[in-house]
Amino acid sequence: MNKNNKNRLVILVFSLMIVILVGCDFSFANDINTENNSEEIIPLYQKFSSDFPIGAAVSRWTLSSHKDILEKHFNSLTAENEMKFSSLQPSENNFNFNDADRLISFAKENNMKVRGHVLVWHNQTPGWVFEDGSGNQVSSEVLLQRMEDHINKVVKRYDDDIYAWDVVNEAISDSEDEFYRDSPYYSILGEDYIRKAFELARSADPDAKLFYNDYNAVQPVKRDKIHQLLKDLIDDGVPIDGVGIQAHWDIYWPSISDIKEAIEMYSDLGLEVQITELDLSLFSWGDDTSYEEPPAELLDIQAKRYKDLFALFQEYNDVITAVTLWGVADDSTWLDNYPVENRDNWPLLFDEDHQPKKAYWELMDL
Ligand code: GLA
Repeated sequence: MNKNNKNRLVILVFSLMIVILVGCDFSFANDINTENNSEEIIPLYQKFSSDFPIGAAVSRWTLSSHKDILEKHFNSLTAENEMKFSSLQPSENNFNFNDADRLISFAKENNMKVRGHVLVWHNQTPGWVFEDGSGNQVSSEVLLQRMEDHINKVVKRYDDDIYAWDVVNEAISDSEDEFYRDSPYYSILGEDYIRKAFELARSADPDAKLFYNDYNAVQPVKRDKIHQLLKDLIDDGVPIDGVGIQAHWDIYWPSISDIKEAIEMYSDLGLEVQITELDLSLFSWGDDTSYEEPPAELLDIQAKRYKDLFALFQEYNDVITAVTLWGVADDSTWLDNYPVENRDNWPLLFDEDHQPKKAYWELMDL
């Protein structure tokens, strides 16, 4: 073999070795990929498409920062803050619909439903609503007129886009010996403000589903009061279609049997039930422990609990007409600052890198 041929042979053998090595490497990489993707990530809303829409509460920021995950997994949206009174009408007759409009456009582009949140609430409602120019409490006539103006303007603007509204939020007291929450609405208008709000909402959009929404709505003492309120409204012919169970729960509380009982009691009134603000804190109420990273054993408990909850929701899919998570992924949750300020919490189905958590995979097993 002459020198040239020998060189060619060396080059050929060398190239062959590279091809084989690269090939091995590829097949190795493929193995890993297949392993990671061995289970396809199915859109959350598809998994429950025959049960109820799956919603997320979004902010003006998460609408962009969490765009991909929203588009893939959710088919309903709620504004975390952008449709509250203080966002829409910060001062009298000065409406700002920019953020709310953006949410509606995003939902339309992606074929998503929108739940409106919220028309009448004691929080995040500016002081001017209850005061005159000199800071004195307004009369019942003035407050009613302001409620009417706000509800008309907002509900009519979105009558083609918003299928359901939280009309009144959190009107019932947590205290054992008080029925209604003491709020400016209540002290100026008495309990009538609730009925009035529903009537105004119905006349602004006869097609929208109208909800009463509250927290601790499955806790027996408060549940009984909410149930009484809803029953009275129905008996009085007030236009109400459903009750929103907020579901800011934790990985230990409340019991499945309390949730089940509340769903049955509310739906026995002929109302739809929606789970409106679901998140599962890793911490019990009153626990101020903090962690740098979420402990695996707590994520396991959370996963199992999400599965038990959704199994229950499916069992009642004839009366539960929507389930909304209060947030999209663990990198943006109000629970990082409540009830303990600056303490990380991991309450949702997607992690801080927007990847499905164990809880998501448990739901896929249902
Ligand atoms: C309540 C309200 C929501 C939101 C949460 C906390 O549940 O209904 O709008 O403010 O508190 O984020």
